[in-house]
Amino acid sequence: MGSVSRRGAVLLAACLAFGAFAAAQETPRSHPLTNLPASGEIATGVFFPDYPLSRHFPAGQPVKVVLGVHNDASEPYNVSAIMGSLNNAQQFGTYYWNFTQQLYFQIVEPSKELSVEYTFLPPKDLPPNDYQVALTVFYEAADGFKSTTFFNQTVTVIEMKQLIDWKLIFLYAIFIGLVFVGVFYVWSTVKDYPLYKTIFGKKTRKVEVSNADNDDDWVKGTPYDNFRKKKAAGGKATVKKAQ
Ligand SMILES: *[C@@H]1O[C@H](CO)[C@@H](O)[C@H](O)[C@H]1NC(C)=O
Ligand SMILES: *[C@@H]1O[C@H](CO)[C@@H](O)[C@H](O)[C@H]1NC(C)=O
Ligand SMILES: *[C@@H]1O[C@H](CO)[C@@H](O)[C@H](O)[C@H]1NC(C)=O
Repeated sequence: MGSVSRRGAVLLAACLAFGAFAAAQETPRSHPLTNLPASGEIATGVFFPDYPLSRHFPAGQPVKVVLGVHNDASEPYNVSAIMGSLNNAQQFGTYYWNFTQQLYFQIVEPSKELSVEYTFLPPKDLPPNDYQVALTVFYEAADGFKSTTFFNQTVTVIEMKQLIDWKLIFLYAIFIGLVFVGVFYVWSTVKDYPLYKTIFGKKTRKVEVSNADNDDDWVKGTPYDNFRKKKAAGGKATVKKAQ
């Protein structure tokens, strides 16, 4: 009886051990970008046909990349796939997005070249910012997989241009409104200042006076002048009478 239960315990322990072993076997199935295989002997060149100069990519717009591979080794390579990720620009360990892998399975013979195209998509709702984009090509030789990260740079993700930028128009409207309010406030404050009155008030009066003088000069000696003088005298007389 005791031996039976001991045998059962041993069996159970074996089962547990096997379970643990199986679990341990399953955990290494991690993301391909986690432990990149070592690089083979290739030279790479990269080109962004739609963004030849800047690395400013609108969010939600696919970005096309052309990769040129030159095989420097003495054995053929089977170019299997390209994969990439979008990471924190300061901390590469922070992964925001893993781009879809594209499969090729194309052979590049020794000292030959091959170009492949890869397209990645910065997510539509990605906040505009600087990010690190790393793109890696995987290729297979007789002794297994190799990988080369052919692009690993800071890029700027920008907001996709909208047809009408309502946000900007709204900001302009507010700005113009504020300018008007400011100008009106300055005007209504300044126009009652004594200093302002002495400077601008006198000037306008002076102009009026000089105009009147000119009128007098122009009118002097004419019948109109006599009529005006008489009228002024009459007016004064009536005023005096009233008093
Ligand atoms: C993206 O790749 C990184 C690095 O291999 C990995 O740690 C992460 O779990 C992946 N994320 C997703 C959603 O697959
Ligand atoms: C390249 O690799 C793939 C996947 O391992 C395989 O199916 C294919 O036959 C290989 N191509 C050649 C020409 O060996
Ligand atoms: C990309 O470059 C950063 C440093 O800028 C580095 O920490 C990271 O390991 C590189 N990633 C790959 C996949 O080579």
